[in-house]
Amino acid sequence: MQIGSLQLESNLFLSPLAGYTNLPFRLVVREIGGLDLAPTDLVNARSLLERNPKALKLIETCPADQPLAVQLFGSVPEEMRDAAAYLQSRGVASVDINMGCPVRKVCRVGGGSAMMTELDKTARLVRGMVEAVKIPVTAKMRLGWDDQNLTAPDLAHVLEDAGVAAIFVHGRTREQGFGGSVNLAGIAAVVRAVRHIPVIGNGDITTPAAAKMMLDETGCAGVSMGRGALYHPWIFQDTRHFLRTGQASPEPAFEERVRVMRRHLDLMVQVFGEEHGCRMFRKIGPWHSKRFGPANEFNKRIVKLSSLAEFNIILDDYRLWRRQFLDDAGLLKPHFRPSPMVASFMREPAVAQRTEIPVPKGPVEVW
Ligand SMILES: Cc1cc2nc3c(=O)[nH]c(=O)nc-3n(C[C@H](O)[C@H](O)[C@H](O)COP(=O)(O)O)c2cc1C
Repeated sequence: MQIGSLQLESNLFLSPLAGYTNLPFRLVVREIGGLDLAPTDLVNARSLLERNPKALKLIETCPADQPLAVQLFGSVPEEMRDAAAYLQSRGVASVDINMGCPVRKVCRVGGGSAMMTELDKTARLVRGMVEAVKIPVTAKMRLGWDDQNLTAPDLAHVLEDAGVAAIFVHGRTREQGFGGSVNLAGIAAVVRAVRHIPVIGNGDITTPAAAKMMLDETGCAGVSMGRGALYHPWIFQDTRHFLRTGQASPEPAFEERVRVMRRHLDLMVQVFGEEHGCRMFRKIGPWHSKRFGPANEFNKRIVKLSSLAEFNIILDDYRLWRRQFLDDAGLLKPHFRPSPMVASFMREPAVAQRTEIPVPKGPVEVW
């Protein structure tokens, strides 16, 4: 698929997840396959221009991590423009503008979802960025502020005129947060509102079948997955296979899940150092263990992880503890197997009221 001048091998995208979509995680997913363009967490444009070390760490990359999209947020046109030019000079493949972030800190300064309420101003900001760089500029948004203000189609239309090369849309409103169901009709309305550029649908895709349903029912050109990739980094490979063949891929074996988790931790340590990498892994380990079957013994220790040596002990102890749930062939007894994931938009309305995919607690809980 094509985004501006960028020819991509996959129409499956990783969604930016602040605190998670760093270089180690992108490499983990890329090594498994099925993904091409992958984003950073959102980065403050001004911090980037100030060469703030934390902002520079967020855009850290390597040759295996290509093509890379950097997501910017900010509301000062000159800063957004100059940050985009700086990213281009660093070899970044595309720049994404965050327009869907409902966090107060971001909205307060006019960025994030607040952009959706001021179309003219936003169009000017975007045009300034598009004119300053050759690489594609894309935008990521929600459907609107609330159900009474589904502004995404209007915004998408205006942004296309301003030169945006693709739209990523999470099929929920800001008011919805992460609750309720993803609105496929809302995404379809965004698809209809643009003329030529691709729209990438997003929200709650946890299985290849959900990805196919979003593609089929909305007419979007591609889909983007965030939390679904955290607990199942195989989701891009599995989805690509399913879209090509109609066949579901087998669940990775426990030891394969462990291998990928271990690789993730090793990369975290390489990129962030052992102490900080292990500390950051405290919130990542429980995502990997979601498909292990019973994992409370693992989770309660991984959330205190402080060294690689400790990780080995935790894993060894967990393997022993987990044996009680296995049959003679070493597989989880049926009763202990995790139940299949079902996307909110594929569930009965009453069930869809509950959020199936957890939203991590802490500073990101209001995403
Ligand atoms: C922990 C967390 C962090 C997020 N960070 C960002 C971000 O930095 N930029 C952004 O545009 N969206 C962010 N989002 C929203 C996701 O990109 C995505 O739109 C949303 O999670 C729905 O997709 P999913 O159901 O596949 O996760 C974040 C979501 C979560 C749960």
